[in-house]
Amino acid sequence: MINRIKELITEIEKFSSADSDAIEAFRIKYLSKKGIIPQLFGEFKNVAQEQKKEFGQLLNQLKNNAQDKVELLKREVSSSTQSDIKVDASLPGNAVKLGTRHPVTQTRNQIVDIFQRLGFTISESLEIEDDWHVFSSLNFPKEHPARDMQDTFFVERNPDVLLRTHTSSVQARVMETTKPPIRVITPGRVFRNEAISARAHCIFHQVEGLYIDKDVSFADLRQTLDYFIRELFGKEVRTRLRPSYFPFTEPSAELDIECLLCKGKGCNVCKHTSWLEVLGCGMVDVNVLKANNIDPDVYTGFAFGMGIERITMLKYGVNDLRLYFENDLRFLRQF
Ligand code: PHE
Repeated sequence: MINRIKELITEIEKFSSADSDAIEAFRIKYLSKKGIIPQLFGEFKNVAQEQKKEFGQLLNQLKNNAQDKVELLKREVSSSTQSDIKVDASLPGNAVKLGTRHPVTQTRNQIVDIFQRLGFTISESLEIEDDWHVFSSLNFPKEHPARDMQDTFFVERNPDVLLRTHTSSVQARVMETTKPPIRVITPGRVFRNEAISARAHCIFHQVEGLYIDKDVSFADLRQTLDYFIRELFGKEVRTRLRPSYFPFTEPSAELDIECLLCKGKGCNVCKHTSWLEVLGCGMVDVNVLKANNIDPDVYTGFAFGMGIERITMLKYGVNDLRLYFENDLRFLRQF
């Protein structure tokens, strides 16, 4: 009797079929109510006492093997019939939804495009910088309160390894390696240790510009920026320059445009001043030229810098900076 079960175990092991009728016949033969295995279970009472243990174990093994075999073969049959489904290559495909560029990228590209038409080249450089390129070479004296205007992230408590707070550091690197004439814009990501709110973020993007040559004047700066603003915001937009302070420019100014929403009548966006601040600018400070071995008796230059998020906000009337960093598709799909 025990040998008979052992034979059956081998028999089951050898069985294989990809035909579902044959598999069903196999199941009926061994496992159905009147099949071989239930019959053997019926014999259990007749087995001699000392063989009961071995008989029971082998019989259970036989039953489990048979059930596993049926399961396995059925699964194989069903997966192979699935892959046999005929493909109709003439059916129209599922259209892939096209994404759009992030609004900050769109604005960046517009800004870069306008300055490229004026003959500016693009320069990009390190985000983790040293003190010299972010501050010292740009006429920020050590311990000078002007450094507080730009709350800085330092890396590993080392005061000489920091995240750039503006892309003026790229201009510093260009001046280091390039002889004038220099005409460059520096788009990139910058970092400031500020609490995140609707009006401030610890990461944002800038485009800064630098033009150094013989006889570059404040009139050239004004003309260049006016052209830029008209290309970006439209021909009718009025601008004004307001005196300001930056360590690396002298004189320095900030450029405002007339409020796009109320056109000078006064509203919440311009806080009833009729003007919106767009960018900082000025004539490159003599100390900056000297620090970069450019002769201030021969060369003069102007520089400017703007936040890309800020320009995007002005263009689209968005009033919360955080929206640009959350990647909420309901927001992004509007651009
Ligand atoms: N670097 C300044 C800033 O980050 C912007 C600026 C650039 C101002 C060049 C004047 C000239 O705020």
